[in-house]
Amino acid sequence: MTTALCPGSFDPPTNGHTDVISRAVKSFDRVVVSVIDNPSKRSLFTLEERKAMLSEIHGDDIELATFRGLLVEHAEAVGADVVVKGLRTVDDYEYENQMAQMNRHLTGMETLFIPTRPEFAFISSSLVKEVAKLGGSMSGLVPDVVEKALKERLS
Ligand code: PNS
Repeated sequence: MTTALCPGSFDPPTNGHTDVISRAVKSFDRVVVSVIDNPSKRSLFTLEERKAMLSEIHGDDIELATFRGLLVEHAEAVGADVVVKGLRTVDDYEYENQMAQMNRHLTGMETLFIPTRPEFAFISSSLVKEVAKLGGSMSGLVPDVVEKALKERLS
């Protein structure tokens, strides 16, 4: 059985995240989506709120977890064979490749990249929050459950 770990901040989950997770679900027997618990980063949604949104979006297709500290230690703790990340841009590649190499150096954990669909390549959680705060449309950017949560949080 192959297990993929999809880690991230997911503050909030976007259509880009959802696409990459859904494609990982098709390729692996087990997919663990793990939300980082980073006390030094101010988030719009709590860990539990982010997990609840991911659960509503992906249901039984995924397992949910949270982690602090080193990703590779968490990956081993959940029995992951690989880490799966989405890649949007060349900038993403530079950053993600460096992290992938560090993670491989630390424990041998491999990272597999899934190229984001072009229609989602410009979407980031931070831009989504900015547009939502300024009253812009969320159409095509986030799942319905996230749009609802953003409206409630920012109204
Ligand atoms: O959604 P994000 O914010 O791009 O997710 C980034 C995340 C959580 C995957 C990344 O920050 C991470 O892996 N953090 C764990 C810290 C770590 O292991 N660092 C050392 C190896 S690079």
